[in-house]
Amino acid sequence: MGVTNNLRWNQIKVVIFYFSGTGNTWWAAQTLAVKLRENNASVKVLSLESEKVQMQRKLEQILVEADVLGIGYPIYGSDCPGLVKEFLKQRLPKGNRKAAFVFTTMMLFSGDGAMVAARMLRKKGYKVNQAINIKMMNNIRLPYLVLRSLPIINEKENTKLKQKAEEKIVRLAANILAGKKWLQGRDPFNIAGGLMQRVPMKILKPAVFAKYFFVDKESCTQCMQCVDYCPTNNILFAEGEFHFGGNCIACFRCYNLCPENAIQHKKGTLNRERFPRYKGPGNGFTIAKLKE
Ligand SMILES: Cc1cc2nc3c(=O)[nH]c(=O)nc-3n(C[C@H](O)[C@H](O)[C@H](O)COP(=O)(O)O)c2cc1C
Ligand code: SF4
Ligand code: SF4
Repeated sequence: MGVTNNLRWNQIKVVIFYFSGTGNTWWAAQTLAVKLRENNASVKVLSLESEKVQMQRKLEQILVEADVLGIGYPIYGSDCPGLVKEFLKQRLPKGNRKAAFVFTTMMLFSGDGAMVAARMLRKKGYKVNQAINIKMMNNIRLPYLVLRSLPIINEKENTKLKQKAEEKIVRLAANILAGKKWLQGRDPFNIAGGLMQRVPMKILKPAVFAKYFFVDKESCTQCMQCVDYCPTNNILFAEGEFHFGGNCIACFRCYNLCPENAIQHKKGTLNRERFPRYKGPGNGFTIAKLKE
């Protein structure tokens, strides 16, 4: 039975919890909220980094009040970021058959990446009706392996991708409100492709990326934005030096959003034209939004 059949005479209340490294998933969550509200739903959008979500009692209260739960995240190696998995496993209350949906943002191929969280939600007792992947802008182009040939980051492409993404989000909103199933990545090709990306990442661990980060002192203004906004407090500044610790989830927020492009990932990225940073989706995006 669809969500609208259950709640025909009431306004549907949706809560969306999301994590976004560099703004794409923030944009997708906000766009989805607009589309749902246009159809008379009441929608709350909260970052997993926001103060409200950090407080367990507040989190439980928000969830009790919602008819439908949404989870959004960026795809990392066909997987769900560790920070989101921890939230789903350790902090999210049991579902008791509450309706839920998952959306991810990704650049090229995500296999069964949305189903990773969908499976975890099911284990917790949620009824997952939609799990979809939305293609958006690439946020990494690095000077090694296949990463050096990933799509170039530019404004024109960003605008084109957002238009297409918005069409998909309109469809997602309609399906959520109708309680209609839409589960992507359940076929053998996507399951196998997803596993092939996830297994090496599990062995290497995302923190392997942190090994290569360093700050170019000539361009750094010591604004401390990277330290303040790292989602895992992985960057320390002590005695005039930046230290990248072992809790990196490879979100590439520090690398992309440093106002001076001072954070490097191997020496090659000092060539900022060949390795441009992704400054987020636009539409009012600022780094502070990622914690709201
Ligand atoms: C470490 C890392 C791994 C990624 N792996 C994939 C991937 O396997 N498939 C894909 O399509 N995109 C991948 N991406 C691209 C992001 O999923 C994509 O740009 C996403 O929209 C970023 O969302 P955000 O801005 O909300 O962080 C990866 C990005 C990073 C930083
Ligand atoms: S965000 Fe960039 S400029 Fe600011 S302290 Fe960090 S590295 Fe330096
Ligand atoms: S160190 Fe940079 S890439 Fe790693 S978690 Fe922090 S902000 Fe993200």
